[in-house]
Amino acid sequence: MTENLNQMIENIKVDAHNKVALADSLTDLDDLLSQFIGKKGSLTNLKTELRNVTPDLRPTIGKQLNEAFQSVKAEIEEKIEALRTSINTFDGGFEDLTVGLAQISTINPGLVGHMHLVSQTTLILEDTFLRMGFSIEEGPEIETDWHNFEALNIPPSHPARGMWDTFYLDTQVPETQLLRTHTSPVQIRVMQAKSLPIYSVMPGRCYRRDTPDARHLATFHQIEGLVVDKGITFSHLAGTIDTFTKAYFGEDINSRLRPAFFPFTEPSAEFEITCTICRGKGCRTCSNTGWIELGGAGMVDPNVFEAVGIDPEEYSGFAFGFGIDRLAQMKHSLPDMRQLAEHDFRFLSQF
Ligand code: PHE
Repeated sequence: MTENLNQMIENIKVDAHNKVALADSLTDLDDLLSQFIGKKGSLTNLKTELRNVTPDLRPTIGKQLNEAFQSVKAEIEEKIEALRTSINTFDGGFEDLTVGLAQISTINPGLVGHMHLVSQTTLILEDTFLRMGFSIEEGPEIETDWHNFEALNIPPSHPARGMWDTFYLDTQVPETQLLRTHTSPVQIRVMQAKSLPIYSVMPGRCYRRDTPDARHLATFHQIEGLVVDKGITFSHLAGTIDTFTKAYFGEDINSRLRPAFFPFTEPSAEFEITCTICRGKGCRTCSNTGWIELGGAGMVDPNVFEAVGIDPEEYSGFAFGFGIDRLAQMKHSLPDMRQLAEHDFRFLSQF
């Protein structure tokens, strides 16, 4: 019996080792845990056999069994950990993303990747504006101080810079390169590169040295709109924003513009929409006003036109910019925007 038990333990160890090597999903590994060391696992069962071992040999066999138990457990758990890490750190390290997805779904069947809520929202916004006749443009996330500030009528050391807490890059010439604090520098690039008239929207990632809270992220997304043509007026701006609001949120959501200040637009406005949580009745989220601020807007300042060589006597235009993360938060009534920047699969898989 003792001989036997000895051999049985060794056989189970080898069997477990081979099966772990072949297992390629978390489900397989869970099965192995119960098969070998679970309540009715084969190694667990052998523990009852110990009773039949002669007392002088019991400590040795007992020890052998214990070690086998621990090493099989460790081997399975190690592989579970490795698979989990490869799922969690999956970062597109595959040449072909579809290969990556295929691998993930063999590791954990049923886990199929999908687009992040912010990307989905961006696509819907792009689609909405494309249908309104706008083109989509993009610009770099690392910007020059000139594009992000100066050309937008914010000279160096101007107090208005305080509106954007900026991450500067550590380069040879201090404060010349930065992570863009808004998508407005793309306006400048589009006006320099494209011929007139311009009807464009510019989505993209932005950065601010802000402490993240329920309604702010340090890395977030904006979409900028720019129209430059002859005879463009403030009512075109108001009409565009209202058309967009209704196309995106539905007919019962209205928009309004309130006076505000931005250095690159004159006059400037903040644009607000009916609070999507209470539908305008007033609630905690909208501080009982029935309105939620979504972004900024205004008529392009003549100084901005001059910076890019457009004649403000001949052309006029409007611009607007708003947060995509904020929009997703509004549409889905998310209590905390920070969830959008975390990678909690339980949250992300809901969208
Ligand atoms: N860029 C501004 C911001 O991020 C928003 C804005 C865009 C305001 C366009 C007016 C015109 O705060």
